[in-house]
Amino acid sequence: MAHQSELIAEDIHAYLKAQEEKSMLRFITCGSVDDGKSTLIGRLLWDSKMIFEDQLAALEADSKRVGTQGQEIDYALLLDGLQAEREQGITIDVAYRFFSTDKRKFIVADTPGHEQYTRNMVTGASTADVAVILIDARKGILTQTRRHSYLVSLVGIRNVVLAINKMDLVDYAEETFQRICAEYRDFASELGFEEITSIPLSALKGDNIIEHSEQTPWYAGPTMMSYLETVKLANDVSDKPFRMPVQWVNRPDLDFRGFCGTLASGIIRPGDEVVVPASGQKSRVARIVTMDGDLDEAIAGQSVTLTLEDEIDVSRGDLLATPVARPDHSDQFEAHLVWMHEDALLPGRSYLLKTGSTTVPAQITQLKHKINVNTLQQEPGKTLALNEVGVCNLSLSKTVSFDPYQENRTTGNFILIDRFTNATVGAGMVDFSLRRASNIHWQSIDIDKDARAALKGQKSRVLWFTGLSGAGKSTIANLVEKKLHSLGKHTYILDGDNVRHGLNRDLGFTDADRVENIRRVGETAKLMADAGLIVLVSFISPFKSERQLARDLLEPGEFVEVFVDTPLAVCEERDVKGLYKKARAGQLKNFTGIDSAYEVPEAAEIVVAGGDVPAEELAEQIVREIWG
Ligand code: ADX
Repeated sequence: MAHQSELIAEDIHAYLKAQEEKSMLRFITCGSVDDGKSTLIGRLLWDSKMIFEDQLAALEADSKRVGTQGQEIDYALLLDGLQAEREQGITIDVAYRFFSTDKRKFIVADTPGHEQYTRNMVTGASTADVAVILIDARKGILTQTRRHSYLVSLVGIRNVVLAINKMDLVDYAEETFQRICAEYRDFASELGFEEITSIPLSALKGDNIIEHSEQTPWYAGPTMMSYLETVKLANDVSDKPFRMPVQWVNRPDLDFRGFCGTLASGIIRPGDEVVVPASGQKSRVARIVTMDGDLDEAIAGQSVTLTLEDEIDVSRGDLLATPVARPDHSDQFEAHLVWMHEDALLPGRSYLLKTGSTTVPAQITQLKHKINVNTLQQEPGKTLALNEVGVCNLSLSKTVSFDPYQENRTTGNFILIDRFTNATVGAGMVDFSLRRASNIHWQSIDIDKDARAALKGQKSRVLWFTGLSGAGKSTIANLVEKKLHSLGKHTYILDGDNVRHGLNRDLGFTDADRVENIRRVGETAKLMADAGLIVLVSFISPFKSERQLARDLLEPGEFVEVFVDTPLAVCEERDVKGLYKKARAGQLKNFTGIDSAYEVPEAAEIVVAGGDVPAEELAEQIVREIWG
């Protein structure tokens, strides 16, 4: 590494200590290669000499060979290596680069500027303190400038540098600079930035990057580097109320019980009072334990083990907080959501929500509106596609503690995870909690499910028949019900075709509608099971997630998944309702098995081969397998 190499050679300890004591600034650069982004970052790296010696030599050689800048160095080439990798499909989600000067250490997040990289920009910006928004002085404020600014404000960045680049191409005209600044301030007034610093630059020529440029005598503000080295961080997390998500409870013996985690915000000292918002129980910190001995104080970002003066209930996933400024604690909230996956958001589907050290099942109960990231207009929508942003209500399967994102970026953010693939599908920022749910209490009822079922001489059950249209689900379910009826069992059939005439009359066959279809039927089956019935559900129910959702609503052993495994060719051959023919002719869209997916069950309790065996035999097989 070229930077401070003498000190490294002479006194490595002094070098490392100096590094350790410097403050760290994380920033993101927003703009496209055309705006001179690579050149700007390349310059900052070059001038801080934070590049490898061999890279320096290669850069000089490449610059001469490629020759875009005559005999001078083309700083953009420093980054183009990475860009090439990106184009080859080695997806670097976000490229982070490290450099340092005598005053500070820096991590710059570099993401491509196009709309299809919105999720990358959100990821890169989510940990940044400052955003550098690049503008080509010749072009002024563009759609992408607005989009970048919105996304940056969405993830809570409060300090923005408007880097008006390529001033050399507009003759360093003050008037051009002022016009762009004024226009930007006007646009950005709604975005809630605390500070906007505009700097006239030529990344290529080096104007106002490190030294003040003689070309812009009218500019008295900071240079790019001096801004980055001195900017005061408005949202310093140690100034915020104390929060620590409990990562695990360390209990090696009966004498020690410590709560391990990383402080998300604030400061904590022995003697300070803490509260567990889940229970409202309070205690005081007894010790702050670390590998290197006890501390008198811990600040945001430090990983510690806290012991408390009293024995109170604290478990993994709890958020320890100061009682003076408590977090919210709820199972419903409104949030801004950025969708990160090719498979669109499906309201009603159960995703896993991860925040702090907790992961809980959660559903989007309502997509209130989408936000057009280019115009900032609200738009109606039923779903969010990759890179889209929306405002939605979420419902969690248990209460969690959190803060509004605008107050605390660490305890106010969450991600959504697909339950089957484990892919991160969304990133969210909590707006506020919705108190509705906490005002609806469970009414306790004396006669319970077991009592109701016992009177009928049976145990509640849900037999969930799934399979393609025409697989024989309804035929078999009908035969099973007849057998059970003759055995004196109390039953009910919920059949797709029938329920879609009533309760689910408003639903069609898009993925989103099918999710809602199954969610409602799952809830209905649960109520019927609660009434003590044996419920036979016959729906295509093509998605694993919703079959799992229905299963999760019931007690272990109550839900019996019956996969009627009839090959598509057989179903199509039968074509009882003539729908396959229509679908093949393109007259019926989203038909399961044709142009809409069927996800085959992997762990169904019962699988029946619907193709060759008579339905009567299959019905007998099912009754035998369940009731012996
Ligand atoms: S599900 O996918 O949402 O579970 P459901 O079982 O309620 O479907 O309804 C399936 C029935 O609706 C089929 O048996 C068929 O008669 C009819 N149907 C009409 N259009 C479609 C379609 N596009 N895809 C599947 N079934 C359809």
